[in-house]
Amino acid sequence: MVSVKRISPRSRRRKRRTARAAVLGALIRDHGLQDGIMAELGVFRGDTFFYLLDRFPNLSLVGVDTWEWGARDAKGTGQDDGARSYRESPLPDFEADIRADLPAYGARAAVLKSRTVDAARSYPDRHFDIVFIDADHTYEGVCADITAWRGKVRPGGILCGHDIDMPSVRAAVTESLAGWFCPGEVIWAYRVPEYGVAAP
Ligand SMILES: C[S@@+](CC[C@H](N)C(=O)[O-])C[C@H]1O[C@@H](n2cnc3c(N)ncnc32)[C@H](O)[C@@H]1O
Repeated sequence: MVSVKRISPRSRRRKRRTARAAVLGALIRDHGLQDGIMAELGVFRGDTFFYLLDRFPNLSLVGVDTWEWGARDAKGTGQDDGARSYRESPLPDFEADIRADLPAYGARAAVLKSRTVDAARSYPDRHFDIVFIDADHTYEGVCADITAWRGKVRPGGILCGHDIDMPSVRAAVTESLAGWFCPGEVIWAYRVPEYGVAAP
């Protein structure tokens, strides 16, 4: 009899580690945030989420995603090329797989099924060491996430995100955050000033 080895979602994800996650990991390490509190806005299949949990054993990470098709972008269309519709992706399966893997990480890993802007209200200001924005990629969506989440990052922490090569993302980041930089792999990053709040 031939035995068929089941490949767990977690093992599959491990094979899909991306350059994006590696650059994000380097950003976290270079700023000494590896033992900190982080939020990932837009989790999708969990590739980056679990990469970071595996890479940094003392990192606490909350992932926020609706895992729902359709009207999730700021314009409400769900089809904007900036928002991406994810119609081909089994989003509910991704959510179930991620939740099944969460217990292995104990209290330091959590997910919130919510629109990102709504989820921001669940946390006090300056709660996070780093927030990674990778959800609604429309101009309006990125602006809304920056507005909602910037104050949730402590002074000296990092607000960052993905897809700075997209015109919608680039415009939102450039208009909202003076002094942002690109550590690589189309990631944008902004260090929240230590003292006072810098004008955008
Ligand atoms: C590009 S994927 C995230 C990829 C993930 N960060 C990674 O690195 O593997 C974008 C995700 O954001 C979610 N999303 C889009 N707009 C959202 C919103 N307004 N609130 C919550 N989730 C949203 C989508 O469901 C999708 O799973």
